[in-house]
Amino acid sequence: MEITSKQLRQKWLNFYTERGHVDIGAVSLIGDGTTGVMFNVAGMQPLMPYLLGQKHPKGKRLCNVQGCVRTIDIDEVGDESHCTFFEMMGNWSLGDYFKKEKTAWTFELLTKEFGLDKNKICATVFKGDKNVPRDDETANYLLQLGIKRQNIFFQGKDDNWWELEGTVNTPCGPDNEWFYPLVDEKCSENCDINCKCKRYVEIGNDVYMQYEKLEGENYRALTNKNVDTGFGFERMLMFLNGLTDVYKTDLFAEVISFIEKQIGQKYDDNEQITRSMRIIADHTRTSVMLIGDINGILPSNVGAGYILRRIMRRAIRHAKKIGLDSDKLINIASIFIDEVYAEAYPLMKEKKEFIVSSFKAEIEKFAKTIETGNKEFEKLANGIERKIEFMRSKDSNYDESVDRVISGKAAFRLYDTYGFPIEMTIEMAQEKGLKVDEEGFKIAFKQHQDLAKNASEKAKSGLASHGEIETKFHTATHLLNSALKKVVGASSHQMGSNINSERLRFDFACDHKLSKEEIAQVEKIVNGWIEQGIEVTKQEMKKEDAVKIGAEHQFIDRYPDIVFVYTIGDASKEICTGPHVQNTRELGHFKIIKEEASSSGVRRIKAILN
Ligand code: ALA
Repeated sequence: MEITSKQLRQKWLNFYTERGHVDIGAVSLIGDGTTGVMFNVAGMQPLMPYLLGQKHPKGKRLCNVQGCVRTIDIDEVGDESHCTFFEMMGNWSLGDYFKKEKTAWTFELLTKEFGLDKNKICATVFKGDKNVPRDDETANYLLQLGIKRQNIFFQGKDDNWWELEGTVNTPCGPDNEWFYPLVDEKCSENCDINCKCKRYVEIGNDVYMQYEKLEGENYRALTNKNVDTGFGFERMLMFLNGLTDVYKTDLFAEVISFIEKQIGQKYDDNEQITRSMRIIADHTRTSVMLIGDINGILPSNVGAGYILRRIMRRAIRHAKKIGLDSDKLINIASIFIDEVYAEAYPLMKEKKEFIVSSFKAEIEKFAKTIETGNKEFEKLANGIERKIEFMRSKDSNYDESVDRVISGKAAFRLYDTYGFPIEMTIEMAQEKGLKVDEEGFKIAFKQHQDLAKNASEKAKSGLASHGEIETKFHTATHLLNSALKKVVGASSHQMGSNINSERLRFDFACDHKLSKEEIAQVEKIVNGWIEQGIEVTKQEMKKEDAVKIGAEHQFIDRYPDIVFVYTIGDASKEICTGPHVQNTRELGHFKIIKEEASSSGVRRIKAILN
């Protein structure tokens, strides 16, 4: 069948909303901090509390299409199916319907809506272990629906159990996976769903989440029997259109054809070029999604920001490698924003300027050093080859593998001086049959960090701890945030804040240097509010309610369920833990002493109170 990404998205949501599910929409891609997972890696992740028993405000039957970012397989990107960003079509029963209804609906969707042949559908179910019995119930429903007995496979925990690895107190359970053959011909007599020939694709997954994962290998039954369904959007789109390459679906078609035109080469011409094209397409898409997210991040050297930097730089490197001007990544980003995801992710369009300027900034920053860094790398690699040649000529028993290594120090220099993420150096080394001394890199990195830490501790000592003045700065920060929105525009949200006894520091999204007039205007607004002597009030409420009444917030997913909202008359309303002054009159006089760039698309203000 032919189906577009838009149609597939709609079909999924229609099918489940027609069956009593509420479309809850997608949440941020940035992890909520509760599981220690940096990004949202599965559709169920934001629903964790509800799968554990909390009541969901939208009811017991939910569905959506949720973006996920998984970077664990990042090195596999470049093949025909791996992506670092992907969407998961999901639906959930929170203690409502269970195996009977779920098997029937998945079956109906696959056979009636998507026209799959029930004689070819394969399914796997949990074979049981010491904690959980064999899932005969699901298997029986599948048989009743008309799936052939020989197409149902019982498998162990490695295959038919779903949990978020490395977490505890999270919901989990046995699952029923669905498979379909891409072609009819078997590669051999025994060719089945587990065959290496990849004749079968896994198209989706119904998890029966009725356990809570505890410490160790222990599980506790939940009061609710839940269903957690996840069908990979990209994979389904590929498969339904009879394709075997996700990069040939309409999600990527325009981007690939743009790259083809730019470099004058066809996607299928050359394996190395195909691989680079896929990396560029995938990594640009993920970067756009992460920067354009509601809790959008920017490239940096730590945490999620580092992962973003790493994928942006990898895209830039592969662009260079195939002769695509790195500026063209901006055109590719724009295709995703304006064409492919305009409907499903309208926020991205709103944030387009910000996304594009962040891309430009990162490209410029890296473009300055990548050439010299590349040369430096070539020198290193050539040096190693020359040494090996020399040693070979002297000793016929010489084992060259010990020398096929880039030292940790050299890798650190590439990182520190030229901005080469270590993973990139490793990839480049691999392409030349070399290794990198990763341990040595870590040591060099640590030494460097210790030096930096000592310096910053020295700088910090002598500063007072929390007191009256810090409290005042805190309230002034809220006023500044509001004033900036009036002067710079609603898009100028907070990106960071830091207070000591001498000044407040505030980072905010803004694409230009503030003019003298803008600075004066911000000061005037803040001082106006101070002079009005506005009462500062504090209310405790549910997080959802705080959002509903329009309270400012930075990372909504990271707050507890009950939050404080500080209101300063009509001037400001923000989720915050405080403390704050009681009346703005206490603040005295507000003055901006510095306005500078913090990182790309982010400005920094330092201000004092007299
Ligand atoms: N949570 C399940 C998955 O991610 C549905 O596959």
